[in-house]
Amino acid sequence: MPVETSGPARILNTHAGSLPDGRAPVILETASTPGYSLIDSGHGEKLEQYGPYRIVRPEAQALWPRRLPASAWSNADAIFTGDTEEDGIGRWAFPKTPLGETWPMNLLDVDFWGRLTSFRHVGVFPEQIAHWQWMADRIAASRRPMKVLNLFGYTGVASLVAARAGAEVTHVDASKKAIVWARENQALAGLESSPIRWICDDAMKFIQREERRGNRYDIILTDPPKFGRGPNGEVWQLFEHLPLMLDILRELLTPQPTGLVLTAYSIRASFYSIHELMRETMRGAGGLVESGELIIRESRDGDPADCRALSTSLFSRWIPT
Ligand SMILES: C[S@@+](CC[C@H](N)C(=O)[O-])C[C@H]1O[C@@H](n2cnc3c(N)ncnc32)[C@H](O)[C@@H]1O
Repeated sequence: MPVETSGPARILNTHAGSLPDGRAPVILETASTPGYSLIDSGHGEKLEQYGPYRIVRPEAQALWPRRLPASAWSNADAIFTGDTEEDGIGRWAFPKTPLGETWPMNLLDVDFWGRLTSFRHVGVFPEQIAHWQWMADRIAASRRPMKVLNLFGYTGVASLVAARAGAEVTHVDASKKAIVWARENQALAGLESSPIRWICDDAMKFIQREERRGNRYDIILTDPPKFGRGPNGEVWQLFEHLPLMLDILRELLTPQPTGLVLTAYSIRASFYSIHELMRETMRGAGGLVESGELIIRESRDGDPADCRALSTSLFSRWIPT
C-alpha cells in the first residue's frame, strides 16, 4: 500500500519481499594519496596537504592532542580563521606568502581547481575517494556503456572521475556557482568532450522528472546536505526528504544496476539509521547494503598503527550480488 508523505507530491512506495543482506559497520578508509594527505590532527583542527599547499582548518572530531610540533602547524600555507567580518579569501590567513583563491589539484588522475572558500571548504571532500575508486573500478570493468547520476554534485570531481572511467554522466546541483566551478574543472581535466550533462536544478524536482521521463542510471551517487535550497528556493531537509529521495532513486536504477551510494555529513544519526532506511528502500531487490563511516587516516613516517583515523561522514550503499 502506498503511503502519503508530506512535502513533495510523489507517494512513497512500499515493496514486498525480503530485505537485502546487510553488513555494518563497514569503515571505508582513505589513506594518504598523491595529491592529498592528512598530515596531523588535534585540538579541534586538522593539517592537510592539498596538492602544493598545507592547509589548517577546524575539525570538531579531532578531540585528541596534535602529534607534530607547533612549528609544523605554523608553517602552513593557509589557515582558516573564519573571520566573520570578512568574506571569501579574507577568512583565510597566509603565514608565508598570500595565496591566490584557486590552485590546480589532482586526485585519481583527474585535474581540478582547489579553492579557498568562505565556508572553509576547498572544493573537494577527499574521503570520497573510497567511493570514487569503487565507482571507477566498476565502470572500467563493465563491458557496456554506463550511466552515472551524481546528485548534489558540488564541484564535480566525482562526475569527472566517472567520465574519465568511461561513463556517461548526469551531474545535478542547485548552485550556479558550483556548476560554473565544475565546468572549469572539466576544462582543466581535459574532459570537455566527455558526455557530461551539467544541470542546475533542485535535486528532488529533477529526480521526479527523470522518473516520469523514464531515464535510468546504472550508478547513482547522492551526497545530500542536512539542509539545502534549490535554485528557486525549494527546501531540502534531509530528515524529511531522504526516504522519498531514496525511493525515487531506486526507481531510477536500470534493470541491471551497479549500485546506489548515499553519503551523509553533519547529521545527528547513526549509520544504522541510513542502513535500515536503505535496506527498507531496496526490499525485494536482493543484493547487499553496506553502511558505516568514511574515514581519513593520518599519514606519518614510522609506525602506521600510530596514525589516527578521522571520522568524516556516514555512508550507506546498495550493491547487487
Ligand atoms: C556536496 S553537497 C554536501 C557537501 C558536503 N557533503 C557537506 O554536507 O558539507 C552540497 C551541495 O548540494 C547542493 N544543494 C543543496 N541543496 C540542493 C538542492 N535542493 N538541490 C540540488 N542541490 C542542492 C549545494 O549547492 C552543494 O553544492
